[in-house]
Amino acid sequence: MTGAAEETTTALPVGGPGHPGAPWSSGVRRREDGALEVAGADVRDLVAQHGTPAYVLDEADFRARARAYRTAFETAFAEVGTGVDVYYAGKALLTVAVARWAREEGLRVDTASGGELAVALRAGVPGEAIGLHGNNKSDAELHAALDAGVGRIIVDSLVEVERLADLAGARGTVAPVMVRVTTGVHAGGHEYISTAHEDQKFGLSVSSGPDGGDSPALEALLAVVARPELHLLGIHSHIGSQILDPTGFEVAARVVLQLRADVAARTGVLVEEVDLGGGYGIAYLPGEVALDPDRVAKDVASAVTAIGAELGTPLPRFSIEPGRAIVGPAGLTLYTVGTVKPVAVTGDDGATFTRLYVSVDGGMSDNIRPALYGADYHAEVVGRVSDAEPVLARVVGKHCESGDIVVHRVMLPGDVRAGDLLAVAATGAYGRSMASNYNLLTRPPVVAVADGGSRVLVRRETVDDLLALDQG
Ligand code: LLP
Repeated sequence: MTGAAEETTTALPVGGPGHPGAPWSSGVRRREDGALEVAGADVRDLVAQHGTPAYVLDEADFRARARAYRTAFETAFAEVGTGVDVYYAGKALLTVAVARWAREEGLRVDTASGGELAVALRAGVPGEAIGLHGNNKSDAELHAALDAGVGRIIVDSLVEVERLADLAGARGTVAPVMVRVTTGVHAGGHEYISTAHEDQKFGLSVSSGPDGGDSPALEALLAVVARPELHLLGIHSHIGSQILDPTGFEVAARVVLQLRADVAARTGVLVEEVDLGGGYGIAYLPGEVALDPDRVAKDVASAVTAIGAELGTPLPRFSIEPGRAIVGPAGLTLYTVGTVKPVAVTGDDGATFTRLYVSVDGGMSDNIRPALYGADYHAEVVGRVSDAEPVLARVVGKHCESGDIVVHRVMLPGDVRAGDLLAVAATGAYGRSMASNYNLLTRPPVVAVADGGSRVLVRRETVDDLLALDQG
């Protein structure tokens, strides 16, 4: 990473007076009576209208983050003489309205399935502003992408190169293709690691096999060039998620630009575009600091400029695919507290302490991340003020599974009780999109809030919805 920390400017939205700080969306305030307000709407009114559990999305915050990423990258890459496209990664959360917001803020949309593609199209996103990913796309998905005239299909294997070429040929079209490569760089959390050989399902490795021949990535790129039914648009690299150290992006960019030069040397084709993927990390807990888009955009732009000069190749157009960084902080989940139970726990040091188990009316079905990744979240009682001494609490759901944890560790007022409203911060990304019907719970609605008003983007599921799927 280059540049001094004090040069950092933040383009991310931050809350004004009354804002409780990271990790809440910029529209969150605490009223004097203790109630939380989101974009001018009192959470008690939201709950009266929409019930709990509910995902609440701060529309202005989403839009501001989308703009912040677009502006930061467009500015930094214009300064080094090239362009950049920002694709919103729909896997984080995609609804018709959300896709429209992204589009209205000048973003494109990255989809990873036929379902996500259908939602982006329903939102009116033009095909050329959509990308389709997937390590195992069906023929139906490839046809849907070609029907829509998507701007790029990111191929993930040599067999897919041949399948897509055959399919495009049969339709008499030329498919725009990026090849997803694995650079050996893995990032996430606070660190990145670099390994030569990858043991995972995505992409094609840039490392040669033991025979020292062409790498799978180079082979696939050459295969695309060899098929007239395919147009080789570029090379794609995604290194990980929740990245807080941006060094990995620069290391991966070097590998990709080198590969681009290698393809040019072999075929004379210097690909037009390079995608550096998503993964920009956010704050989940108070005091955590999100990756700053201005800083990372400047660092990556200057790194690629230096690498391009070393390789003697002009810079390609770049693209990035942030998901979490756009929608994560814009969302929160509202729950109603039910059973509260003190549990005596013996710590590693043998000492006994009390952990207050606070059960809410949702759980791992609306946020699987704590159970799946051990992810940490922050929660607060949001419907009233309490002077009670804070106690160590664990927020749990209502599923029949002891791993059904919503917040592993948080200080809550000692008088937290049934009927209290609880908000969990920064649940906008990978909450609703990874939700399930475990225990046949119905999935919560997605409610957008703007200028004090709210509207339902995705309605609450009902038991009738579940029964309608069951054919008896
Ligand atoms: N582009 C590609 C090719 C991706 O695979 C991903 C995420 C993204 C973009 C967006 O990454 P983001 O900016 O949102 O970090 N379910 C996990 C995250 C999985 C991410 C998979 N790919 C979680 O809840 O943390």
